[in-house]
Amino acid sequence: MPNPAGAARPPARRGAAHDSAFLRACRNEPVPHTPVWFMRQAGRSLPEYLKVREGIPMLDSCMRPELVKEITLQPVRRHKVDAAIFFSDIVVPLKAVGIDVDIKPGVGPVIADPIRTRADLQRLRPLEPSDVPYITEAVGLLVDELGSTPLIGFAGAPYTLASYLVEGGPSKNHERTKAMMYGEPELWAELVDRLAVITAGFLKVQIEAGVSAVQLFDSWVGSLAPDDYRRFVMPASTRVFDAVAEYGVPRIHFGVGTGELLSLMGQVGADVVGVDWRVPLHEAARRVGPGKALQGNLDPAVLFAPTKVVETRAREVLHSASALGTSGHVFNLGHGVLPSMDPDALSRLVAFVHEASAR
Ligand code: CP3
Repeated sequence: MPNPAGAARPPARRGAAHDSAFLRACRNEPVPHTPVWFMRQAGRSLPEYLKVREGIPMLDSCMRPELVKEITLQPVRRHKVDAAIFFSDIVVPLKAVGIDVDIKPGVGPVIADPIRTRADLQRLRPLEPSDVPYITEAVGLLVDELGSTPLIGFAGAPYTLASYLVEGGPSKNHERTKAMMYGEPELWAELVDRLAVITAGFLKVQIEAGVSAVQLFDSWVGSLAPDDYRRFVMPASTRVFDAVAEYGVPRIHFGVGTGELLSLMGQVGADVVGVDWRVPLHEAARRVGPGKALQGNLDPAVLFAPTKVVETRAREVLHSASALGTSGHVFNLGHGVLPSMDPDALSRLVAFVHEASAR
C-alpha cells in the first residue's frame, strides 16, 4: 500500500499515546517520571507466556493476532511498564517473503538454505503489506486495547539479519558474514540493500497499522570496527531510517557491544540511541552527540542480585542519565530480559524507577 500522502497522517488511534512519558522522553520533552520498558519483556520469563505458547511453534504464534495481542499485553499488565513491545521476531519478514526459516527453541533462527551467492539474492524480494496481514491485524487489536500506553514496533537491521542469512543460524564470530563483507563488497552491498527494503517495508506496515514508535535491532553489529561499520553497514541502516522518517514516529536504534560505534549509530537517523551496560549514559551522550534521547542501560545480570543491589544500580543509571540535561532518557536493560529472570524482580524494578525518578 504505497500511500505517501496518507502516510504522514498518523492513524487517529495512535494519538491516544501521544502524551505518554515514553513518547515524551523519546521527543526530549519533560516527563513526570522516567519511562521504563524492557527489551524482550514479552515472553520467556513469564509463566503466563509459557502457558499460552504451549504446543505452538514460535513463528506460528507470530501469525495469530489474538495470541500476539495476549502475549504483548502480558508484561504491561504484570510489570506496569510504560510501553508495550509488539510480539513478533526479526525473522518474521524474512519468512513472509519466502525464506525457509525456523526458530529452534534454545538455539534461535535457523535458515534452511543460507544466502551466499548472487543467485541467492533473488530470494530476497521486497515485502508487501499483503504478505503480513496478521501483523496489521494484531497491531490494530493492540492499539485499540492499549489506549494511552504506546506500542513499539520493531525490525532487525540489515547487518544482524544478514548475519543469520549468511551463516545459516546464530554465530559467535560471524565468519562467513564477514568473509562476504570483506571479500565480496559488491555482493554484500546488494544483500544489505535488499534487507533494508524488506526491513523498511516491515516497519511501514507496523506504523501504518498504528504503532507509536519503532526500534531497529542491530544486535550483533558490535562485532565490527567503526571503519567497517561506516563502509559496510551505515548506508543500508540509514536507508531504513530514511524510509520511515516521514511518519514522524520516534525511531530507536539498538545494538550490543556498540560503545565504539555510538557516534556513528547516532548518525544513521535514529531519534533515540539504545546503549548496552558497558558505557555509562553520560559518556554515551557525549559519544552520540546532542539532540538524541538515550535508552538503557542496566546490566541484565544485575537482576539476579538482591533487590537492594538492583536498586542501587538502577539509581546509578538514573543518576548518570541526569547528566543528559534536556535530552530524554528511557530506562531499559542493556540487553534483553533473560529467560531465567524472576518476573517479580522486573516488576519491582519498574516501581522503583517510577518512584526514584518522580518529579
Ligand atoms: O521484546 C519482546 O519481548 C518482543 C518480542 C521479540 C522477540 N524477538 C520474541 C522472541 C523481539 C523484539 C525479538 C527480537 C529478536 N529476535 C532479536 C533482537 C533482540 C535481541 O535480543 O538482541 C534477535 C537477535 C532475534 C532472533 C532470535 N529469536 C533469538 C536469538 C531467539 C532466542 C532463541 C532462544 O530460544 O534462546 C529468538 C526466539 C524468540 N524471539 C523468543 C521470543 C519470545 C523465544 C522463543 C520461545 O519462547 O520459544
